[in-house]
Amino acid sequence: MSLPVFVLAAIADNGVIGDDNRLIWQLSSDLKRFRQLTLGHPMLMGRKTFQSIGKALPGRETVVLTRDPGFAAEGVHVAHTLAGALDLCRDLAGAMQASGIAVVGGAEIYAQTLPLAERLHLTEVHASPHGDAFFPVWDKSRFKVISKDDFSSGPRDQYAYSFVDYQRVGT
Ligand SMILES: NC(=O)c1ccc[n+]([C@@H]2O[C@H](COP(=O)([O-])OP(=O)(O)OC[C@H]3O[C@@H](n4cnc5c(N)ncnc54)[C@H](OP(=O)(O)O)[C@@H]3O)[C@@H](O)[C@H]2O)c1
Repeated sequence: MSLPVFVLAAIADNGVIGDDNRLIWQLSSDLKRFRQLTLGHPMLMGRKTFQSIGKALPGRETVVLTRDPGFAAEGVHVAHTLAGALDLCRDLAGAMQASGIAVVGGAEIYAQTLPLAERLHLTEVHASPHGDAFFPVWDKSRFKVISKDDFSSGPRDQYAYSFVDYQRVGT
């Protein structure tokens, strides 16, 4: 079964996505959208991102990619190769009747999965913070914007931001 892979990422104007293995902004609206888009789906993430989140998120199946054969954590599935992780996500998606596989970072995982992605759900964070993790350079010509909504900063959203959805075009 071929299931679409979709990528979720919040990316600052300077490409930064994190620092010292943590998120570096408070954007309540982004967390809400993340929840809406991932609920009921298998979620693939790198071991560092999992440790940054610190636990399995409810209502989703978490697949953690790591080369460490001894890695285990409560409530998550573990895979040691990208192909194995995607196979596992497909099986989980079948059991959950999910429409796709959510890839949720971090930088290393985005770099390996962007070539497979059918859709990107990006939050463009209008700030240029210091960071040590960056969204990879990607070929925008392969995607078209299918929706874009701009929002101001507010009491629960530290910076102005835009929700931008991309769909792959061609092959
Ligand atoms: N802004 C956002 O939307 C967003 C989303 C997610 C994460 N982040 C940020 O991104 C940063 C983390 O990104 P990162 O690139 O440092 O780490 P990461 O992608 O989360 O995890 C990297 C780890 O994944 C494992 N891995 C990667 N490729 C593998 C493969 N092909 N086979 C087996 N294992 C593989 C390795 O784990 P082992 O070392 O255990 O072998 C590797 O060290 C943090 O700052 C986090 O806050 C931001």
